[in-house]
Amino acid sequence: MAASQDWTGALIVLAAGKGSRMNSELPKVLHPLASAPMLAHALRAGDSLAPERIVVVTGHGAEQVEAVLAGLDEDAATVRQTEQLGTAHAVAQARPALKGFTGDAVVLYGDTPFISPETLATMQAARQNGADLVVLGFHAANPGRYGRLITTGSALDKIVEAKDATEAELAVTLCNSGVVMADAPTLFSLIDAVGNDNAAEEYYLTDIAEIARSRGLSAEVVTCDEAETLGINTRAELALAETAFQARARAAALEDGVTLADPATTYFALDTVIGRDAEIGPAVVFGPGVTVESGAKIRAFSHLEGCHVAKGAIIGPYARLRPGAEIQEQAHVGNFVEIKNAVLEEGAKANHLTYIGDAHVGRKTNIGAGTITCNYDGVFKHKTTIGANAFIGSNTMLVAPVSVGDHAMTGSGSVITKDIPAEALAVARTPQDNKPGLAKRLMDKLRAAKARKTDK
Ligand code: UD1
Ligand code: MG
Repeated sequence: MAASQDWTGALIVLAAGKGSRMNSELPKVLHPLASAPMLAHALRAGDSLAPERIVVVTGHGAEQVEAVLAGLDEDAATVRQTEQLGTAHAVAQARPALKGFTGDAVVLYGDTPFISPETLATMQAARQNGADLVVLGFHAANPGRYGRLITTGSALDKIVEAKDATEAELAVTLCNSGVVMADAPTLFSLIDAVGNDNAAEEYYLTDIAEIARSRGLSAEVVTCDEAETLGINTRAELALAETAFQARARAAALEDGVTLADPATTYFALDTVIGRDAEIGPAVVFGPGVTVESGAKIRAFSHLEGCHVAKGAIIGPYARLRPGAEIQEQAHVGNFVEIKNAVLEEGAKANHLTYIGDAHVGRKTNIGAGTITCNYDGVFKHKTTIGANAFIGSNTMLVAPVSVGDHAMTGSGSVITKDIPAEALAVARTPQDNKPGLAKRLMDKLRAAKARKTDK
């Protein structure tokens, strides 16, 4: 099911909890999952609804969470919950940020990364079909500490937290995921009526179901697969979530027409984009921000992040593409080559043992083995510009800032410190001096010295 066009809504993402069971200095929602902070997964799921507003409720590690959010491509407001008095109290903190907003509000948890767009669209459809409150539930294999959904048919009567449940209620396996949807004024009005007279002395968001029913409003349950509601509380659960994410990403890539030579050893990030008919060799890792276009080949043991690989390009084996690497069509990046913040134009080649950083390499230029752009002087970074159809001899040091013109060459072993005009050959190394017979005379002398030593 696709998200509806004529729906106006806001996301409220709860991310104030401490996550004590992570045993970490880092706020739980910032722990990386598929090379993205856990929180980014919930936001991305919510984005499928095209929300007009996003409000993230922060608390523990608020400054860190806010800083990371500022770096994400999300237009999210943040509000702080200085004391964690419960999930209803957390949602209430979003009220000022949503003042006057009359669309729907969807509550998501920052530590629950896998809610699918289809599930959110199903909840949206239930709202559009007239349910005042929609709660996402799932059938738990092991209901344990989850809140239980007490229903009559598909109507939700109330939600009971495990700590407060009777024996009969504990036997219910339909559990609360925590995701709820209602129009914003209704949600905040229900929350106003929530108290903290319960086992945990917390303001439970879950109480809104029973309050809604007592006001004659309708409350409905939408269910999803338990795997979607996986919440992360421990490092073990984080590791399981990573495994689950990778399994899904691999299956999706195969489905999208990408060849994976050994799927179990391909690692994707949340935002990896790979085109049809791309071929990915064994043991390839995609960090954040990678786009690989159709038909490109990424050979074994390559590591890519923050880069773009165009059609027909070949990367690896054993290549490293770092942020800002832009590899254009038919370009080749071979073994033990590292590229950072550099463009390799169409058909350019750097096939062996090379570092290219802060550089621009023109069309069809060939970079010889062992070439290094010396981009860093210890304080500043400098740029190397190489034109089209140039030939950089093996083991050339290009001391930036420096430029090499079109069709220019460097002699191998050169240390280039001055710009090279187009079509020039630059040789910058000590001239070779052959001393006739000297090698033999030297060896004879050394062997004689060794013989005298062993005679003694
Ligand atoms: C909650 C639900 C439970 C449900 C379960 C699903 C309530 C009362 N219970 O329980 O029915 O089965 O989630 O995982 O809602 N948070 C804040 N501020 C707070 C408290 C929590 O931001 O004051 C955030 C947490 O960071 C977390 C989320 O809300 O992201 C859920 O809180 P948590 O304490 O994990 O609730 P559970 O006890 O798991
Ligand atoms: Mg929880």
